[in-house]
Amino acid sequence: RRLLGTAGAVGAAGLVVGGAGGAFGAEALRDDVAPLSGVGTAALPFHGTHQSGIADPAQAHGHLVAFDLAPGADRKAAAALLRRWSDTAAELMAGRAPKGDDTGIALDAGPSSLSVTFGFGRTFFDRTGLTGKRPAALEPLPAFTADALDPKRSDGDLWVQIGADDGLVAFHALRLLQKQADGTARLRWQMNGFNRTPGATGRPMTARNLMGQVDGTNNPKTSDGDFAAKVFVPDDRKGADAWMAGGSYAVVRRIRMLLDSWEQLSLDRQEKVIGRRKSDGAPLSGGTETTPVDLDKLGPDGSLAIAGDAHIRVAAPASNRGAAMLRRAFSYHDGFRDDGAPDAGLLFVAWQADPLKGFVPVQRKLDRGDGLSRFLRHESSALFAVPGGCAEGEYVGQRLLE
Ligand code: HEM
Repeated sequence: RRLLGTAGAVGAAGLVVGGAGGAFGAEALRDDVAPLSGVGTAALPFHGTHQSGIADPAQAHGHLVAFDLAPGADRKAAAALLRRWSDTAAELMAGRAPKGDDTGIALDAGPSSLSVTFGFGRTFFDRTGLTGKRPAALEPLPAFTADALDPKRSDGDLWVQIGADDGLVAFHALRLLQKQADGTARLRWQMNGFNRTPGATGRPMTARNLMGQVDGTNNPKTSDGDFAAKVFVPDDRKGADAWMAGGSYAVVRRIRMLLDSWEQLSLDRQEKVIGRRKSDGAPLSGGTETTPVDLDKLGPDGSLAIAGDAHIRVAAPASNRGAAMLRRAFSYHDGFRDDGAPDAGLLFVAWQADPLKGFVPVQRKLDRGDGLSRFLRHESSALFAVPGGCAEGEYVGQRLLE
């Protein structure tokens, strides 16, 4: 995590306790709370070139929420909402109490790596008279044969992604933003997810998903020279979507896992379906989790070490003319279905500079014959243009809306 605050200096709702040298510069309003240490102190920046919640590790708790503009809400109303939302997100992410009435839900907690990320869906542009500024990259995603999409839980004018390493901090942000939308935008759908809590494992590790696999190993890394080119829209963007410079496109898919069938597979079969060992995520071509995958390697019997339909073969950039994306997912579990199967899976969020060079070609290929797809159902889908970050005094989306 990028730490803006330092351990022990930040108190209730991030307010500096006892005048100790906290990094947030807020005056001490509460002095009856013990100084924080650990997870609560970590803070992500709201202001900057890119929005937070993209290149940062996925937090332990996530809320994905889509809103539709209320009838009559125009560009000006949307701009005012994005201003309110940005101001509040900046305060909360710095660990400061929100201005005005507060619910108190996050009192006693520090920022806990809270991130709030805002995006615009295709339908936003017509409703606000901004069709001329709609990026070509927001063309609807193609249909895939394995889709079983619920339109009510798909798409949306506006999208908010909230993540935090504390569940109360995350809900606090969600509740405030939802109330601030009142009169301008109405909730369309909401999904809640989770990941491993920092500190739950002996050392920091790639997280597991609900199939038990180590998931995220071969993601682009922020230290890679071409990370920004893969994930963010270039700064020198010209034309109708120049306002997207520094932004990214988020593909959101709710993917249910058919866990009853999956868990009947032997360990050996499960590993072949992915192409990696379940225990430590090492590729079946050998080595440890981080050893580069050797797609050409043959096993002792002369067959491919990583099967022809293994997920990591079919999804790899090498199989898709370099197509790449940053996968930053949350797991979800919404109880059990009528047949007793868990309603559980992955809130898959893929970030890329251009969905036509990231998610779309890869999902096309997976859809045609990936061993994992038989155990998955894509139940909802959305695509959002997530603008770059804003400077202090500005709001996210200002270059589009002003
Ligand atoms: C890799 C699981 C859906 C694209 C992996 C890995 C696992 C995994 C365990 C190997 C570790 C890693 O490199 O992260 C899953 C599960 C999914 C799912 C459980 C659904 C519930 C998708 C979808 C896409 C995708 C929908 C894109 C359309 C990739 C890519 C890699 C990958 C690009 C890295 C391949 C490589 O370069 O080695 N996935 N995945 N996955 N997955 Fe998925």
